[in-house]
Amino acid sequence: MTFLQVFAIAIIVLISQDLNAQSLKFSNDNIQLSFSIEENGTPAYSLLRQNKKVINRSSMGFTIAGTGELKKGFELIGTDSSSKEETWQPVWGEVENIRNKYKQLTVHMRHRTTGVLLDIVFRLFEEGVGFRYEFPQQEKLKYFIVTDEHTEFAMDGDHKTFWIPGDYDSNEYPYSTTKISEIDNMAMVTTSTEIAVRKAPDPEAVQTPLMMKTDDGLYINIHEAALRDYPAMQLHTDRKSKTFLSSLVPDAVGNKAYLHAPCKTPWRTIIVSDKAADILQSKMILNLNEPSVIKNTSWIRPMKFVGIWWEMQTGVGGWNYANTEKSIDANGKLIPSGKHSANTANVKRYIDFAAKHSIGGVLVEGWNVGWEDWFGNWKEEVFDFVTPYPDFDVKELRGYAAKKNVQLIMHNETSGSATNYERRMDTAFRFMNKFGYHSVKTGYVGRIIPRGEHHDGQWMVNHYERSVAKAAKHKVMIDIHESVRPTGMHRTYPNWIANEAARGNEFNAFSSGNPPEHETILPFTRLMGGPMDYTPGIFKLQKYSADTTRGVHTTLAKQLALYVTLYSPLQMAADLPGNYEAKPDAFRFIEDVPVEWDDTKILYAEPGDYLIVARKQKGAPNWFIGAITDENKREMNVNLDFLEMGQHYTATIYADASDAQWKTNPEAYIVSKQKVDNTTTLKFKLAEGGGCAVSLIKTSK
Ligand code: NOJ
Ligand code: CA
Repeated sequence: MTFLQVFAIAIIVLISQDLNAQSLKFSNDNIQLSFSIEENGTPAYSLLRQNKKVINRSSMGFTIAGTGELKKGFELIGTDSSSKEETWQPVWGEVENIRNKYKQLTVHMRHRTTGVLLDIVFRLFEEGVGFRYEFPQQEKLKYFIVTDEHTEFAMDGDHKTFWIPGDYDSNEYPYSTTKISEIDNMAMVTTSTEIAVRKAPDPEAVQTPLMMKTDDGLYINIHEAALRDYPAMQLHTDRKSKTFLSSLVPDAVGNKAYLHAPCKTPWRTIIVSDKAADILQSKMILNLNEPSVIKNTSWIRPMKFVGIWWEMQTGVGGWNYANTEKSIDANGKLIPSGKHSANTANVKRYIDFAAKHSIGGVLVEGWNVGWEDWFGNWKEEVFDFVTPYPDFDVKELRGYAAKKNVQLIMHNETSGSATNYERRMDTAFRFMNKFGYHSVKTGYVGRIIPRGEHHDGQWMVNHYERSVAKAAKHKVMIDIHESVRPTGMHRTYPNWIANEAARGNEFNAFSSGNPPEHETILPFTRLMGGPMDYTPGIFKLQKYSADTTRGVHTTLAKQLALYVTLYSPLQMAADLPGNYEAKPDAFRFIEDVPVEWDDTKILYAEPGDYLIVARKQKGAPNWFIGAITDENKREMNVNLDFLEMGQHYTATIYADASDAQWKTNPEAYIVSKQKVDNTTTLKFKLAEGGGCAVSLIKTSK
């Protein structure tokens, strides 16, 4: 054999060795992850939970503009592993202490033909796995454009799935519950006129958090954590193979993400358990987010609030001062319509009500000029965020609210013009500081400017973060409506106190509403990423608007229970003061229920059916229970063994009356009291569309 022949054989051996599949296994007590680089260089992973299949072999990769498809042809160039165990305290949350325990595996890969370096980091928790891609600093790739991410989630069966369509601009949908093979947005589009106007671009795409249940009782949740400088991930469904494929929300020209190495994608998260309650107890998404960047957080305070808002939603009042922008007098001044809710006297009435009932805040929408022509016009300049209508006295209200120890909550509707808000944000926050507003509700109704960008694309994801970071500089808390759904970023910015980002109670005011099961699904989907400003607490459940067919699809007791089942550090008591004053015994629960908690127990849970949650008040021995059901009535026993042993409590039980029913008799409730301790079992009778709320206040005897 010549030297050349020997050399050639050596190379073949080397190559074939390199081309051999390389597999890595990585596990803890519950979860087994396998990662391999297959023979053709495709990176792929799969996941088991206690030997049950969760994710079948699923490939990973990207397409990068100018570089091409990076799905196969990778080689493994190294691995790193580490682990962590710590306990940390959130600034606010459902529990006082959060345990963060994981094992981490990083695989370093090189793409053979392009030389691109790509790492995948896996973090294994008791309840699931998070993984992200990292592009290390490298010669071949500096500034680059992701035109596609190819992350698969291959499911091991035709699971029951709770989904909303993959709309790039809205998440305000009711949930469909179907098998994976039946996911079809178009079917939804034709059954609902409200949805027809916003139909999703891909009929087989769904949004995350996506909740599933397998035939043999595994609960699987797919979402993402720490979404920053990257578009939201939706999932395209391959109905035949029951595989979900990452589908990133595009920008105005169809690109997905503009990146600059070194950089990281958000974490893709898979949470799994054989108990639905474990999905809700999981803190994995928060654990995958970075700690707070705000050092002094003493100014961040959860609170309840009221607002002139339901008047507007139900047509009793309005946002605008004049009927239309053309209602002007001879001097060019707007002629008042007589229905403007944000007038000084009316706002004072709400401040008085809040003060009387120890409610911390009053939200005032429609206070600033621009509402006569703000909707659907795709206009760059609508609001300036600092000019009040003539009947709204900012200075006077500042003094009045301060005297009564009530905080006014600012409202900045951007009408989708994020560029306008970017320019004016600093001035808007200074205005809030000057006039005593410690929090703001922002909103993005309509199509986004920059034109062609989407609510859930990278540009807007960065805009939301910029607005939160800027608010923090001015010590302002922020509640964003019409934003991308949250991914636990409130750990990093605890002033990001809530989001809407789902179909809230307001839909009951202006549409066919939310079905009774809606609130039993939200905790497993939308709320996995963070708290929601759902606006519960409606007491007058029917005939509140000119359209008498509209109604809230729950009983009154269920509205109370939502203060416990739908976690938020910012909770609205959404109904009109008069409707609360008519039922002071029921309103007592809203007065008493806290928004800060030391502990949370999920007592019963089944997505789409029912949920019972108990929470311990922060810094106090009292507990509160919320129980809700879907359209079916239920009887459930709740064992109070979580109460402190040997202690006595007064339970005030706000229950559905025996003849209550969400459609025919929603306002029938009974309030009763009884002495309980940790040996007591309470029997809950939930009406159709009903619920039950309980306060457990510690007493000396
Ligand atoms: C939609 C928001 O969800 C709602 O709460 C708000 O009142 C309107 N936009 C007006 O900004
Ligand atoms: Ca159901």
